[in-house]
Amino acid sequence: MTSILILNGPNLNLLGTRQPEVYGSTTLNDIEHMCIATAKELGCALAFHQENSEGALVDLIHAARGTHDGIILNAGAYTHTSIALMDAISSVELPVIELHLSNTLAREEYRHTSYISKVALGIICGFGAAGYGHALRAMAQHLETSE
Ligand code: DQA
Repeated sequence: MTSILILNGPNLNLLGTRQPEVYGSTTLNDIEHMCIATAKELGCALAFHQENSEGALVDLIHAARGTHDGIILNAGAYTHTSIALMDAISSVELPVIELHLSNTLAREEYRHTSYISKVALGIICGFGAAGYGHALRAMAQHLETSE
């Protein structure tokens, strides 16, 4: 069975109360439940994690090799700073979809740079919590056609 890992970076544990005008009022727990339902519909296994520290995210990306077939990554602010996450993705050679709730390109200039985009299969941003479902469907379809 195809297995997809969804990784969430710093401050995403605060979704629901964190700047709801930017990120919406859905909590990460709600998003996880939506993702579980979508993965079931798609016939995929799913793992869902959130970590605030960069090293923990690097470790989870390393551990994904041989365990999962693809990664959906909302790296939060590390998107704009982390060469370590970019290198981890290049090292494991798994397809990665970069995901953001907000449209980062329509926001502050420092959010326009993404180290993740350079090594990602594709990017989904600006659709709020629904973006997680879009990313899961896109990854499932990609994995199905690249088998
Ligand atoms: C975010 C966008 C990032 O710029 C920000 O630092 C986040 C959340 C998003 O999902 O819109 O923490 O990744």
